[in-house]
Amino acid sequence: VNPRRALSIADLRRVARRRLPRLVRDYVEGGVEDEAGVARNRLAFAALGLVPRYLVDVSARDRRATLFGRAYAAPFGLAPVGLANLSRPGADAMMARAAAAADVPMVLSTAATTRLEEIAAAAPGHAWFQLYAPRDRRIAEDLVRRARAAGMNALVVTVDVPVPAKRERDARNGFALPLRLSPATLADMALHPAWALAMARHGQPRFENLAPYAPPRASAQSLAAFMASQISPALAWADLAWIRAAWGDRPLIVKGILAVDDARRAVEAGADGIVVSNHGGRQLDSAPAPIEMLPEIAAAVGAETVVMLDGGIRRGADIVKALALGARFCFVGRAALYGVAAFGEAGVARAIAILADEIDRCLGQIGAPSLAALGPGFVRR
Ligand SMILES: Cc1cc2nc3c(=O)[nH]c(=O)nc-3n(C[C@H](O)[C@H](O)[C@H](O)COP(=O)(O)O)c2cc1C
Repeated sequence: VNPRRALSIADLRRVARRRLPRLVRDYVEGGVEDEAGVARNRLAFAALGLVPRYLVDVSARDRRATLFGRAYAAPFGLAPVGLANLSRPGADAMMARAAAAADVPMVLSTAATTRLEEIAAAAPGHAWFQLYAPRDRRIAEDLVRRARAAGMNALVVTVDVPVPAKRERDARNGFALPLRLSPATLADMALHPAWALAMARHGQPRFENLAPYAPPRASAQSLAAFMASQISPALAWADLAWIRAAWGDRPLIVKGILAVDDARRAVEAGADGIVVSNHGGRQLDSAPAPIEMLPEIAAAVGAETVVMLDGGIRRGADIVKALALGARFCFVGRAALYGVAAFGEAGVARAIAILADEIDRCLGQIGAPSLAALGPGFVRR
C-alpha cells in the first residue's frame, strides 16, 4: 500500500488500526477512565470556527515558524511518546529521521525504548529530550547531562504525571513491558501477523534510557519496574532549579500546563516555554481541553514565554486555530504514531506532509499569508 494514498490523518489511523494488535492499538488510542478527555480535545477544536477574509493576496504563503531563535519548516513538531517502538520496531528513529528531513522538531520521551544518543544522532539539530524527572535526583541529572552532551536542542519537563494514570484499556489488556503472552494476547497477535513477525524479529523493546542506572543486564521486566518506581509524586516547582542547572542555557520547556497560575509559576521558575497540554487525555479525564485554556494562558504569559500546545490535533486547521488563539507552536502525538504504525518512516513523513499541506491551504482560505497574520479575529467561539 502506498502511503501517498492516505489523504488525511484519519486515513493513516485506519491503516494503523488494521496493522496493530488490540493491545498496542488501545495503548496508543486510549485515555483514562471514561476517555472523556480524549473526546473533549477533539470536540473543543470542532467547536471553533475559522472566519475567512477574502480578497487578500495569498499567492505567497509562509508557514515557517521561528522558535527559540531558529526557523522550522512548519509550526508543529512531534510530541514525546513513550513505547513508540511497540507500534513498529525502530519507530523512534523513524520519527526522528522523518522530522529532521521535514525540518520540524521531534521530542524523544524518557519512556522511549531507544537510547537518546541514537536519536540525537539520527536527527541532528531537530531532537529534543522530554524528561520524566526520576525520583533519584542523580539519575535525573545524569539523564539531563546526557541529553545535553548528545546535542539535544531543548529539554521538555513533563509535569502532568504526578501519579500513574488509570488507563482502563491497558489494565484490561494486561498491558505492561515486557508484553505478557496470555492466550488472549497470542490470539490478538495471530490476527496481526505482520506486526507479530516484526516484533519477533527485533525482540521486545525495553527502557533503554534507564538501563545505565539499573543493575547490569536488567531484564525488560525489571527495567519497567524500575521506570515505574522512579515516577515521583514529590516533584515540585523548586525542582526546576536543579533541572535548569544540570541542563544549562538551552531552552527549558514545561509540558502539561493547564492553569494560568501554573503558567505564571513556570515563567517565574525560569522556563523558556510551556506546552499547554492535558497529555492527550491520558492523565486526568476531567482536565479541560488545552485549546479551551489557551486564550487565557496566552494573554497572561504570551509576552514573556513561548506558549505551545498539544492535544487532539488531527488537521492543519486545528494548528491554525491554536496559533490564532496565541500558541506559537504545536505538537502532535497520535497523528505521528498512526503514520509510523501504518507505513514506518514514510508514514511519519506523510503525516507531517498532510498537516503542513492542510495548514498551507487553510492559511490561503482564511486570507492569512503568514503565521504572523493570525490572531483571535479569525476564530469564532
Ligand atoms: C502512546 C502515547 C504515549 C505518550 N507518552 C508520553 C511520554 O512518554 N511523555 C510525555 O510527556 N507525553 C507522552 N504522551 C503525550 C504526548 O506527548 C502528547 O501530549 C499527546 O499525545 C497530544 O495529544 P494527541 O495524541 O491528541 O496529539 C504520550 C501520548 C501517547 C498517545
